[in-house]
Amino acid sequence: MLILSPSILAADFTRLGEQIQETTQAGAQYIHLDVMDGMFVPQISFGMPVLETIRKCTDRVFDVHLMIEDPGRYIEAFAKTGADIITVHAEACTHLDRVLQQIQAAGKKAGVALNPATPLSALDYVLDGLDMVLIMTVNPGFGGQKLIPYCLEKVKELRAICEKRGLDMDIQVDGGIKASNAKEVIQSGANVLVGGSAVFSGDVAANTKEFMDIFREMEAL
Ligand code: DX5
Ligand code: ZN
Repeated sequence: MLILSPSILAADFTRLGEQIQETTQAGAQYIHLDVMDGMFVPQISFGMPVLETIRKCTDRVFDVHLMIEDPGRYIEAFAKTGADIITVHAEACTHLDRVLQQIQAAGKKAGVALNPATPLSALDYVLDGLDMVLIMTVNPGFGGQKLIPYCLEKVKELRAICEKRGLDMDIQVDGGIKASNAKEVIQSGANVLVGGSAVFSGDVAANTKEFMDIFREMEAL
């Protein structure tokens, strides 16, 4: 199934609830929440109180992308905010296996994100137990960047590995995803597309619908 996960980082925060409703009504299945700590990535975005507030205004899948150092310190706290999927960066975890166990013990789906330069081999031993892999298609930290083309090679390789292992894995891509490259991204093997500026710049409902139309077209093939 093809899924759109709008990243609210690019939303108008004065109209956040309204804009989330617009993406939901136009068919987006997830909400992508980018938590940044100013250490793992340069920016500081938002944390638990914001997530708790947003949780009250949407029933969509809460897709929490933790761009924070040593995320094991906060798994239980983010689980309490109503996260459905918690994704941590392999690069930010000294004890990745332990953090994944924490996420699953909290009853949440576990994802691992890889920066562009991190090889897929970082996942070799944990892949079978994951719910999702997030292949970053930009260097994390900022919205509105351009997709790095070699990252799609990684998506292709990961899809092939999953097929070989018989895993029906969700592969998420994040960074520089637009309606104009969505087809190529899906053809590479991704099925969960994060859209920040592509969803929230301009007409949110129309932007979302453009993605959903592409998804319908691709699913009909
Ligand atoms: C970047 C974040 C993204 C960001 C994507 O570090 O993880 O989720 O919001 O923004 P766009 O889609 O504008 O590249
Ligand atoms: Zn993200």
